[in-house]
Amino acid sequence: MKNKNKTVWGARFNNATSKIFENIGASIDIDKRLFEEDIFGSIVHAQMLVKQKIISKKKGKNIIKGLKKIKKEIKRNKFNFKKKYEDIHMNIEKRLFEIIGDDAGYLHIARSRNDQVITDFKLWIKKASNQIIKSLDDLIKSFLKKSEINIQTIMPGFTHLKNAQPISFAHYLLAYVEMFKRDKKRFLNNIDYINESPLGVGALAGTSYNIDRNFTSKKLGFKKPTNNSIDSVSDRDFALDFLSSASICAMHISRFAEELIIWNSDIFKLIQLNDKMLTGSSIMPQKKNPDPAELIRGRAGKNFGSLQAMLTTMKGLPLSYYKDMQEDKALVFNSYDTLAQSILIANELIKSIKPNKKRMFDLANEGYTTATDFADYMVQNNNLSFREAYKISARLVNYAEKRKKKLNQLNFIELKKLRKDLDKNVMKVFNIENSVNLKTSYGGTSTKNIKKMISKLRKEFKK
Ligand code: ARG
Repeated sequence: MKNKNKTVWGARFNNATSKIFENIGASIDIDKRLFEEDIFGSIVHAQMLVKQKIISKKKGKNIIKGLKKIKKEIKRNKFNFKKKYEDIHMNIEKRLFEIIGDDAGYLHIARSRNDQVITDFKLWIKKASNQIIKSLDDLIKSFLKKSEINIQTIMPGFTHLKNAQPISFAHYLLAYVEMFKRDKKRFLNNIDYINESPLGVGALAGTSYNIDRNFTSKKLGFKKPTNNSIDSVSDRDFALDFLSSASICAMHISRFAEELIIWNSDIFKLIQLNDKMLTGSSIMPQKKNPDPAELIRGRAGKNFGSLQAMLTTMKGLPLSYYKDMQEDKALVFNSYDTLAQSILIANELIKSIKPNKKRMFDLANEGYTTATDFADYMVQNNNLSFREAYKISARLVNYAEKRKKKLNQLNFIELKKLRKDLDKNVMKVFNIENSVNLKTSYGGTSTKNIKKMISKLRKEFKK
């Protein structure tokens, strides 16, 4: 029967691939994004084949010249990607045949698409992780900037969304800096894990050619070659690591976005957002809505979804390569694109926040936020246990609540009624600035602590 199949692997096939499957099964629309990594990997592979005398210098030269030409074509949008060639690897190989002829057939010695695709993908994820790390750096710097000018801005700190204790707005912002620092570290750790080169493990078993995997590993910027050929082509942990780090980072951003939405609400009015980060309503003329914050709050769902999809794909999958895994690229690319945009928007948001300082201060005085300070004062000055002092402070709150007074509106006579051995000095515990500045324990919200922390972070995140 005539061979109707024009694919690279068509030699054993009597019928062309179903059109329906060709359309769905081709990954070129997605994995063409790997073209630079694919060409880089192929050039290094060809160099190794030459060095090991597996192919001639002339063939190697030809192959590399052809590959470089293809790279230019793709960059200039002059490359015609074809679905019938499935993926980026085959598209490039087919074009290489067109450009250099039969020498192209020597490039795939001692490799398979299975090791080729993960080489490309690992290189890409390394690059993407570095980009995320860079934009997290920018984000952290913006948070630091906003912190520096808000050390003295006092706001209510919340637990259960109820006023808890007064804190500095800067201290709150620095909490996010810690989260983003951990995110950064996660991506950095991933780069370390990913740093083993799979190139040369072939389809799953290794190869009988005298290849030099240390050479390719080094040239490609990996630390060492992977140890086990089967694990190498089966492993997608590096994709999962990326997706999981992206999810956690997106979760942090989502929490930040949510707080901004709450604080910007007409009920809270703790902050104002620049008009740049607000949108209007088509019907209600008065409206200014925090759409960008809402969008990144919601988009965390896309990051989580990609992680979940990838985990589900891998669960129960026997070793080694299966087509199931082809979907990994779309998931990682989507997650990366989503996260990269969310970080950019978060950065715009933090720059555009204006704290409503008076409102923050007034609210920090509401909800008896210094009741704990009062209890602490009695432990430190009146020889009481914390539990005893707690009860007395609770009675004071009840008293104030009945009289519809804030704690800082009570006078010394009223306090004396509650406990005779109180000294006049006690009155300062109801001052929220004092409350903030008493929190001098390491990591606490006192002005002194924050200043120290900011200068430490400034050194860490120099321009
Ligand atoms: N496009 C494929 C993928 O992304 C490349 C590997 C194909 N290998 C195979 N044996 N079909 O997974």
